Amino acid sequence: MSKQRVALVTGANKGLGLEIARQLAEQGITVVLAARSLEKARSAVADLQSNGLNAHPIQLDVTSATDIAALPALIEREFGGLDILVNNAGVNYDFEGEVTGDTLRRTFEANVIGPYEIIRALLPLLKASPAGRIVNQSSVLGSLRTMVEGHGGAFTTAGYCSSKAALNMLTVVAAVQLKDTHVKVNAVHPGWVQTDMGGKDAPLSVSEGAKTAVRLATIPDNGPTGGYFHLEETLPW
Ligand SMILES: NC(=O)c1ccc[n+]([C@@H]2O[C@H](COP(=O)([O-])OP(=O)(O)OC[C@H]3O[C@@H](n4cnc5c(N)ncnc54)[C@H](OP(=O)(O)O)[C@@H]3O)[C@@H](O)[C@H]2O)c1
Repeated sequence: MSKQRVALVTGANKGLGLEIARQLAEQGITVVLAARSLEKARSAVADLQSNGLNAHPIQLDVTSATDIAALPALIEREFGGLDILVNNAGVNYDFEGEVTGDTLRRTFEANVIGPYEIIRALLPLLKASPAGRIVNQSSVLGSLRTMVEGHGGAFTTAGYCSSKAALNMLTVVAAVQLKDTHVKVNAVHPGWVQTDMGGKDAPLSVSEGAKTAVRLATIPDNGPTGGYFHLEETLPW
């Protein structure tokens, strides 16, 4: 590919999103770090730029229809197109108290509807790329098989798990609908990772946790679509 690839990572101001952006930029990809706070996006970008990486900040609240509507024109104007979308931003409100319908609604806004609307908005740019890639940052907690076999433990909660299961289904639907295009769509589980969400007891570093998303964001043309992965392993839906 002659032109430098462009990647957009949501929720890229910290945690897995920032590390995914770093690892993509280390491969020579122009990386757009999206965060709901422009100030936080700028400071994350400064961190990457201080290491000589090609990174740019934008403001994007994934639950804001206004922000999403402005996205395609902004990306086209500033970066000339888009090759990779990593829907990484996510929330888990299930440990804040009783999980109510409102908890589910707020969780789905960020973890399901946001990624869906961002894909819809950016699809024309991704289709125009010679090798469009969409990676949805899911979780093994969205796997029906994993949950039914009782492996979710204390993390078996209604809002987060059902939102990631819904994100998995959106991944499959998009992959089927895009099967005759160059765009590949996959869901990934980063592992249990030391971030603000994962906590200090998590076994994996952010560097390890970012690897699966980065791998699927950069798969070659003969790579998979409509899959669900952790590192090299294929997970059961
Ligand atoms: N850590 C784990 O063990 C683990 C395991 C499985 C899956 N995951 C998934 O990995 C992804 C990243 O999680 P993480 O561990 O890196 O958590 P994190 O450190 O809490 O980071 C979450 C990121 O999402 C952003 N975000 C939340 N709501 C947003 C919104 N409405 N608009 C834009 N950005 C928003 C946050 O921005 P603010 O800083 O503004 O809040 C932050 O940048 C999530 O989708 C999570 O479900 C994590």
